[in-house]
Amino acid sequence: MSLSDCSEKVPSSVSDELQFPMDDYQAISGASTAEKSASSIPSVQQNDTTDEIWRSINNNRDCLPKNRDDTREGLERATSLKCALGDEEQVVVLTIEHDSSKHLQSAPESPDGGGQDVESDKEKAGRGSLENKTTLKPSPSVGTSLVLLVPEASNAKSNGSEACSSSMMEEAWERLRCSFVYFQKKPVGTLAAVDPSAEDLNYNQVFVRDFVPTALACLMKIPDPEPEIVKNFLLKTLHLQGWKKTIDNFTLGEGVMPASFKVMYDSFQEKDVLKADFGGSAIGRVAPVDSGFWWIILLRSYTKCTGDYTLSEEPEVQKGMKLILDLCLSDGFDTYPTLLCADGCSMIDRRMGIYGYPIEIQALFFFALRCAQQMLKEDTDSNKLIERIERRITALSYHIRKYYWLDFTQLNNIYRYKTEEYSHTAVNKFNVIPESIPDWVFDFMPLRGGYFIGNVSPARMDFRWFLVDNCIAILSSLATMSQTTAIMDLVEERWEDLIGEMPLKIAYPALEGYEWNIVTGCDPKNTRWSYHNGGSWPVLLWLLTAACIKAGRPQIAKRAIELMEQRLSKDGWPEYYDGKKGRYVGKQARKHQTWSISGYLVAKLMIENPSNLAMISLEEDKKIEKPRLTRSASWTCSSFDILDPIHQFLWTGDCKLENNTSLPDVTNRLYEGLKSDEI
Ligand code: GLC
Repeated sequence: MSLSDCSEKVPSSVSDELQFPMDDYQAISGASTAEKSASSIPSVQQNDTTDEIWRSINNNRDCLPKNRDDTREGLERATSLKCALGDEEQVVVLTIEHDSSKHLQSAPESPDGGGQDVESDKEKAGRGSLENKTTLKPSPSVGTSLVLLVPEASNAKSNGSEACSSSMMEEAWERLRCSFVYFQKKPVGTLAAVDPSAEDLNYNQVFVRDFVPTALACLMKIPDPEPEIVKNFLLKTLHLQGWKKTIDNFTLGEGVMPASFKVMYDSFQEKDVLKADFGGSAIGRVAPVDSGFWWIILLRSYTKCTGDYTLSEEPEVQKGMKLILDLCLSDGFDTYPTLLCADGCSMIDRRMGIYGYPIEIQALFFFALRCAQQMLKEDTDSNKLIERIERRITALSYHIRKYYWLDFTQLNNIYRYKTEEYSHTAVNKFNVIPESIPDWVFDFMPLRGGYFIGNVSPARMDFRWFLVDNCIAILSSLATMSQTTAIMDLVEERWEDLIGEMPLKIAYPALEGYEWNIVTGCDPKNTRWSYHNGGSWPVLLWLLTAACIKAGRPQIAKRAIELMEQRLSKDGWPEYYDGKKGRYVGKQARKHQTWSISGYLVAKLMIENPSNLAMISLEEDKKIEKPRLTRSASWTCSSFDILDPIHQFLWTGDCKLENNTSLPDVTNRLYEGLKSDEI
């Protein structure tokens, strides 16, 4: 089958399966977000302490135009790409001061007497103290704002790399179209992979989580976005949620969303029929906890992009959202606000030791709660639920920011933990035994940088790095601004480990030997540095790119995109790569994996127009209190963070520009300018 043939492959049958109307494509139009008025920000002095800087940021926020309290306003349409520029908008001066010397940070003094015990104990926590005496150089990507990318991109254009990447984009769009799945002649999703050379296994169906980057690519597509497939997908999966779900006589919760579905043709009835999997056919028989969260997040993206509130306000859609939330907010025996899960209930859908309270689910849970908060219609029925959501958001953010966060200082604290503390005054709240800290983490942790660890539960901290979770934490503003900076610092400092030759490691490090044996149950697909066990997944590029833009560090994403462009298409868009540096196409990787294709497209569409980020990112919720934490070198906020208006806008919706120009206009102009060499 040639690439161009595939778009014709539409089932010809008609059926009455769909319960909700699928409107014809609605053209995207409308005004950009409301203009933000200019306001002056007192500058931050270089010698300010971190606390003073925080105070200063908060003061600055107070004097900026107030962000909307009306949550619905958070759903304002994302800026149109084709925003016309009036003459009066010709000159926009961005008030950014770039002086990399300002970002020099002093390392914290090393505590005296770390001494012999510490060094001799497998060279553990004292290792950082040597570096403590050196001055940290600024992270390479700090100070490279979106504004500074413009001349660089123009250079790329002149040296031909632009042409190469645009042909890759064309190929990607064509291949993506080949994976479309139709129901009643309407597109409702995409196949997980279209690889004629490999056995189908379960890749011949629409996975809810896999469809998210495809949906975003369709929403961000230029010049003509394609929201129809996204709307159809949302309605179709909502319809499936309404099915009675029974596995071995056990009925699953009403709100459970499918992991995947297939469209099949019933030749007897002469119509398309659906077959859905809620975990019963999955490899470990685990229900996909992430599906419902992704569904809510995508509903917000659709609404944000199209400005079409009618879908999210539809009673059935409101009900679907509430059913998902009911599943997660019901009372139980919990003492933590996090969700208790079985292994394999999300993207890593095989046994990998991520049972308990895995950060991926917690970050998605937080993200979905915040999206639902914007979309739930207030009525007597919903108000109680909205209150519960608000309380849970507060508790969840406190718990995760405080107990999942790891940086140099926190690692050293845990290393020195006492155990057997019983009362509420306990410092070591979960009774983590310091000897259980794995050796690798002492080497991995840079002096500057930090991340949310994989899991926290009684006497157990899973110190592994997982990329999805850290990016979702940034996009949902679960990570504070300082934590976001620290995560980016870590990615940059540990580039070889986390990005390597082919972006991006799903988890670090790999489980090997005896540990692999007992944690994965000897899973031959998850051998060390392969698949979920330290493999490299191209799809993750979109998440990294979105997080980098939100963090004001697009340069990191650009570097990863360039790396990927050297091989992804030539290698046939594989599902994953193997090896410590991700050098080899994965042993059992499907080729033409749809989310590898759409992940690349979304990354490109976002780096080319950062205002697309608004579709998948939430501003900081200023009502959420920040936990008191001890701060290491990573806990700094440079003056750049405050003064870069684009960065500031992405965080708070506020910006400081001259001429009362709203920020979306500026990003548009930047990227329009980028294409026409205007700037
Ligand atoms: C694998 C992945 C899972 C994905 C599915 C379809 O099972 O682990 O996350 O959804 O393939 O691509």
